[in-house]
Amino acid sequence: MRILGIETSCDETSIAVVEDGKKIFSNIISSQIDIHKEYGGVVPEIASRHHIKNIMAVLKEALDESNFELKDMDYLAVTYAPGLIGALLVGVSVAKGLSYGSGIPLIPVHHIKGHIYSNFIEQDIELPAIVLVVSGGHTNIVYMDEEYKFESLGGTIDDAVGEAYDKVARVLGLQYPGGPKIDKLYYEGNSKFLKITKPKVPGEYDFSFSGVKTFVINYLNKMKMQKKEVIIEDIAASFQETVVDILVEKTIKAAKEKNVKNILLAGGVAANSLLRKEMKEAGEKNGMEVYYPSLKLCTDNGAMIAAAAYYEVKYRGIEMAKLNLNGIANREL
Ligand code: KG4
Ligand code: ZN
Repeated sequence: MRILGIETSCDETSIAVVEDGKKIFSNIISSQIDIHKEYGGVVPEIASRHHIKNIMAVLKEALDESNFELKDMDYLAVTYAPGLIGALLVGVSVAKGLSYGSGIPLIPVHHIKGHIYSNFIEQDIELPAIVLVVSGGHTNIVYMDEEYKFESLGGTIDDAVGEAYDKVARVLGLQYPGGPKIDKLYYEGNSKFLKITKPKVPGEYDFSFSGVKTFVINYLNKMKMQKKEVIIEDIAASFQETVVDILVEKTIKAAKEKNVKNILLAGGVAANSLLRKEMKEAGEKNGMEVYYPSLKLCTDNGAMIAAAAYYEVKYRGIEMAKLNLNGIANREL
């Protein structure tokens, strides 16, 4: 089953051709990072405009590289939720136009299901599993006992992890996206420097990162008022260690409670080197296997959307998207 996957939910315009959720023929990613970094974060209107400008070139490149034509696709797939609404609408409109013109059925895909299924592209993983979803917009612990079935056990009550990374990076004077930069500074700093209070949350598997972020901001303000120098490496390292500790502790706890042997990391923050290492080590200690996608498949890409669409068709059946499909900014898994 050959699927063309379209992703435009945030600041990456990406289109891929993937067969059976596994074989990637092309996965073109046009990132707008260089444009948004001047503003310290993604500017929604600018993102939409750049998707519009780039999407047909990305489509052409994805088809050319795959050596297929549009008519060779069994399905088209598009991220319809969640994300920046103007950005989503670009992908949805193009997908609907292509579907109408070619008669190829269109499968709407939830962005987070795409992130989760990026794990299954390069490796075979048995279920049940616990998935830690960590991106710029999401933080969730998800239980999967069957293919394409998702039960959220808890999530963030305020900032998403990636969002907290990007905001802390900004106050440290680092450019967007801050996650990779803090990850790098971690190795140059003293992670025990700041004793950041771990937040209290209502549910066992809920998260809160706004307090962790505010702790760092308050410390920086205090130092500024006292006209004291700060070592940003130490602050970045302390922040990253606190965040990763929280994520690992809760994920392992959920895996134990559900008695599962497989843990998956998904979303942009799954690219974090410390999270990958610490989760692997904690998994080994508890007799659990930890999986994550290769770095290119962690952040937003069309291949994960085409992969998830394959499972959508396989397990949910073919329900062709109506040509009145709309984008949805907020939608739970
Ligand atoms: O999944 P993604 O590409 O977009 C969303 O769906 O939100 O995730 C982007 C987020 C950004 O917040 C970025 O800072 C973060 O992933 N990120 C990282 C790393 N690489 C990307 N965070 C921590 N460490 C990294 N190495
Ligand atoms: Zn994403």
